[in-house]
Amino acid sequence: MASLKLPPLKPNPSFIPERSSKTLSLGLARPNRVGLRVFASESQEAPDLTVKVNGLTMPNPFVIGSGPPGTNYTVMKRAFEEGWGAVIAKTVSLDASKVINVTPRYARLKAGANGSAKGQIIGWENIELISDRPLETMLKEFKQLKEEYPDRILIASIMEEYDKAAWEELIDRVEQTGIDAIEINFSCPHGMPERKMGAAVGQDCLLLEEVCGWINAKATVPVWAKMTPNITDISQPARVALRSGCEGISAINTIMSVMGINLTTLRPEPCVEGYSTPGGYSAKAVHPIALGKVMSIAKMMESEFSEKDYSLSGIGGVETGGDAAEFLLLGANTVQVCTGVMMHGYGLVKKLCSELKDFMKMHNFSTIEDFRGVSLKYFTTHTDLHDFKLIHFVGIGNVSPCSSSSKGNA
Ligand SMILES: Cc1cc2nc3c(=O)[nH]c(=O)nc-3n(C[C@H](O)[C@H](O)[C@H](O)COP(=O)(O)O)c2cc1C
Repeated sequence: MASLKLPPLKPNPSFIPERSSKTLSLGLARPNRVGLRVFASESQEAPDLTVKVNGLTMPNPFVIGSGPPGTNYTVMKRAFEEGWGAVIAKTVSLDASKVINVTPRYARLKAGANGSAKGQIIGWENIELISDRPLETMLKEFKQLKEEYPDRILIASIMEEYDKAAWEELIDRVEQTGIDAIEINFSCPHGMPERKMGAAVGQDCLLLEEVCGWINAKATVPVWAKMTPNITDISQPARVALRSGCEGISAINTIMSVMGINLTTLRPEPCVEGYSTPGGYSAKAVHPIALGKVMSIAKMMESEFSEKDYSLSGIGGVETGGDAAEFLLLGANTVQVCTGVMMHGYGLVKKLCSELKDFMKMHNFSTIEDFRGVSLKYFTTHTDLHDFKLIHFVGIGNVSPCSSSSKGNA
């Protein structure tokens, strides 16, 4: 079941009970923030990470997000070998000669006193465009990968100008390679808005509806629309994309950012010949923002698109099994990782799988569907929170119904 019709929760004494009446919420601690210690006995059957989404079966929900980790045949092969559930290749367009990348194109934010150069990387900005490799080369590599790994899921990420014939040609050509699905990059924050590409479409619902219409009339494989967070209400373009025939939503792409200003040279970073341009922010620092955006899309999908096999792919700052579990608990079917792979390598998937299994064992979940989306119902309005608190205060006394969050120790 890949739609946002959420599965019934398995009986589990360690799990927070339903807030079926206001008084039930009193005195309950929030579920632990995925501490990832294994409490299950050795004899317990291993949790099954398999996911089925839009008719595609993946060995686990972990998907390489479009970007440098899916830039060519060699690295995508590596991803399959290491065990990633699916790979989304770097975004391609018809004419790569129009894509001119610059160097340097990355800047990093490190944790630690006064931005110490030695701290852990928590934020990553890029001003990288889509693939600048010739489309013919990328298509040849997709075909080769599908021949060598027929059972593995390869997804093409595509982006084109505001031109119906161009979109149709690109879809036709990527589909001929045997790829399993297409993700549409409606979200590149720094890519050629003057040509109505990327976020320029994702930020304009009328344009998005028209372009999605062209795409879905042509495509014969599942289509995921990748959303930009650089918009007031991300659920609006997500709704338009689903209404216009897309099978799934991916969120989020990077967040528009300026990494910093060099206080010696007074120039912004990353600095190219003395100048810069706003970039896209990713990695750990964006994870809470991504969870917020995914939550709002999931709520919208649950109430308006629960009748069909629609899917949701959560993206942003995933480095641990716990980070991934959070997206799944909000209703995501799959979880994409891009910067995490750039920092920790393709072997990261083994750690992600084992940590996700540990979380599942801790709660006695056997499959992803046992817990997918169960945290969505604990979001309510601020007014409701206030009402709950009042009732609690009057009814029981001065005991907080919530333990403090342990978000910091992911
Ligand atoms: C260097 C870099 C290049 C990227 N290139 C693309 C791209 O070509 N197409 C795309 O859809 N997203 C691209 N992304 C966005 C990622 O797929 C992802 O949506 C975003 O970085 C947030 O996830 P993360 O924190 O796991 O990286 C890129 C991200 C980075 C860091």
